[in-house]
Amino acid sequence: MAAALSINSIDLHYGAAQALKGISLTCQPGKITAVLGRNGVGKSSTLRAITGINHLSAGDITFGEEVLKRTPPYKRARMGIGYVPQGREIFPLLTVKENLETGYAGLARSERNVPEYIFELFPVLKSMLGRRGGDLSGGQQQQLAIGRALVTRPKVLVLDEPTEGIQPSIIKDIGRALQFLRDEKGMTILLVEQFLDFCREIADDIYVMDRGEIMHTGPASDLDLPDVRKHLMV
Ligand SMILES: Nc1ncnc2c1ncn2[C@@H]1O[C@H](COP(=O)(O)OP(=O)(O)OP(=O)(O)O)[C@@H](O)[C@H]1O
Ligand SMILES: [Mg+2]
Repeated sequence: MAAALSINSIDLHYGAAQALKGISLTCQPGKITAVLGRNGVGKSSTLRAITGINHLSAGDITFGEEVLKRTPPYKRARMGIGYVPQGREIFPLLTVKENLETGYAGLARSERNVPEYIFELFPVLKSMLGRRGGDLSGGQQQQLAIGRALVTRPKVLVLDEPTEGIQPSIIKDIGRALQFLRDEKGMTILLVEQFLDFCREIADDIYVMDRGEIMHTGPASDLDLPDVRKHLMV
C-alpha cells in the first residue's frame, strides 16, 4: 500500500538559519509513527511543514497521491490532515463546545457534528461542554485539542508533543485514545515526542532526530538501542 504521508528530503530555513536538513520520513497507513528528539532539533518545524504553516526551501511532501506544493494550511486540513499543535492552542475564551465546533469550518453541512466516539474517548469533554477552554486543566485542554482535530474527520492525525506537561493518568487516556484511533478507525498517526516510554508503548515506527537531521529509523523497540538513546539523552 502507498504511504499515507511521505516527506522527501525537505530543507527548511528561518531566515539564514537552517532548521531541517534533508529530512525524509514515511507514515504507513493505519500505523503510529513517532519522531523523537531533544529540545530544538526541529520536531515542530517538521510538523509545521506538513501542515503548511512553514514553507520548504527544498524537497516535497506527499499526502496520499498528491504532492503538497504551496497548498495553504486550510486546504490541507480539508484534505484530511488533522493537527494538534504544541501547547494545544485551544481558544481560552470559547467554551469546550465552541472549541470543538471550530473544527466544522472545512466540513460539508451534513458532517457538522461532533462524532459521539470523541466523547467516549474523552468523557470529560462532554461533562464540561459549557465551560470555557481556559478554565480546563492542561490535560483536559490536550484532550480538547485532540477532540477538535478529530471533528475535522482527519485521515492523518498529527500531534506535537501530546504528553508535554500532562499528568500520568491523562497521558494513559491519550495513549489509549491514539491506539483506538489506529486499531478501530484505521487512522494514520504521526506524533513528535520527547517521552520515550509513551512512544515505546504505542508507536509502530520511530524516527530519531538530532539537529535538523534524521539519525535513525526503525521499529519502536529500537528505542532500547544504545546508539538510539545517545541522541535522546539530555
Ligand atoms: N519561528 C522561528 N524563527 C526562527 N527560528 C526558529 C523558529 N521556530 C523554530 N526556530 C528554531 O529552529 C530550530 C528547531 O526548532 P523546533 O521548534 O522545530 O524544535 P523542536 O524540536 O520542536 O523543539 P521543542 O522540543 O523545544 O519543541 C531551533 O533552533 C529553533 O530555535
Ligand atoms: Mg516543538
